[in-house]
Amino acid sequence: MNHRTTTPAAAAPFDVAHVPPADRLTTAVRTDRMRHPGFGRVLTEHMVTIRWTEDAGWHEARLRPYQALEFDPATVGIHYGQIVFEGLKAYSLADGRVGIFRPDAAARRLQRSATRLAMPEMPTALFTSAVTELVRADRAWVPAEVGKSLYLRPVLMATEADLDLRPAREYLFLLIAFVTDNFFPGELRPRTVWVCEDHVRAAPGGTGEAKTPGNYAASLLAQEQARERGCDQVVWLDAVERRWVEEMGGMNLFFAVGPEEAPRLLTPPLRGTILPRVTRDSLITIASDLGWSTSEEPISVEQWRRWADGGSLREVFACGTAAVVTPVGTVRSAAGDWTVNGGRAGPLAARLRTALLDVQHGLVPDRHGWMVPVG
Ligand SMILES: Cc1ncc(COP(=O)(O)O)c(C=O)c1O
Repeated sequence: MNHRTTTPAAAAPFDVAHVPPADRLTTAVRTDRMRHPGFGRVLTEHMVTIRWTEDAGWHEARLRPYQALEFDPATVGIHYGQIVFEGLKAYSLADGRVGIFRPDAAARRLQRSATRLAMPEMPTALFTSAVTELVRADRAWVPAEVGKSLYLRPVLMATEADLDLRPAREYLFLLIAFVTDNFFPGELRPRTVWVCEDHVRAAPGGTGEAKTPGNYAASLLAQEQARERGCDQVVWLDAVERRWVEEMGGMNLFFAVGPEEAPRLLTPPLRGTILPRVTRDSLITIASDLGWSTSEEPISVEQWRRWADGGSLREVFACGTAAVVTPVGTVRSAAGDWTVNGGRAGPLAARLRTALLDVQHGLVPDRHGWMVPVG
């Protein structure tokens, strides 16, 4: 069988090994941990594991207590980085239920990333039942406040212990969850960004549109250099001309021009080097619902600066599952610095952020069927 072939979802339901009630954290301890969760530190009490082998396909779907895992030191994923991952969130809904935001879209992206790294695709139904089972088990960890949420981190990694350089024949799907307020505390504080010309995140034909750890590892040095210059994030440029704006660390970028009552939103096109993401896609839809025009077109750094200096640029903001919507106030580059909207947060980013959070928390009708309630 071709290792890339999609195999049917495990027919058997999840094997559930709950944390015994006596071992569960008390409400007081959980509430305390959830107070200032940061990003990725306050993990919940369960996890999901599912195995894939050439012979059995997807099998051994287990919901189990959160625990350390053991790997053979010759595991392919550790040596050659044959790993892909995702990020999505569950929110408390206004009616008291919990909803997961667009799990089908996350499943499709995990499939696309897996295909790029010659890994098996996990069927959407199996992915969705994994996230649903975990959220149900860790329901008590979904924060009630708007702006806080439960971040779900699915990972698919090659687990075969055989260091011949070829696609592995065994994989492990892992799903963990953590409580998060937002990636950036004080979300609407405008960020300062560094336009990076020395390093690139992705090149045509590479793995830029796959969510694979190597892309993130390769970005860390530039991120540190940005910090040394007093910047919060790196803006990546295209690898060929080092001129066209692509995206930020874990976020896609939008540029708003035109009148405030009828703005035009521009975002760089997806041409294989940008991660095609859910928040970007959702904001394009919400902006159209608001009657704003949107277009995907290349934006150069020179144009960004000209627009900003000439006053035609209203706002720039970044978006992503973790960051939601975050304004960019100051841009630093080798050619000099400039500000956007006088370095202040603007009303358009705030409006989109509220519109998105309102859907995610069930405060307005879910016109596009994005929320999957967990019973
Ligand atoms: C490189 C990169 N770009 C953009 C995004 C935003 O994507 P999403 O809106 O799906 O979170 C992410 C987050 O996963 C990312 O890692």
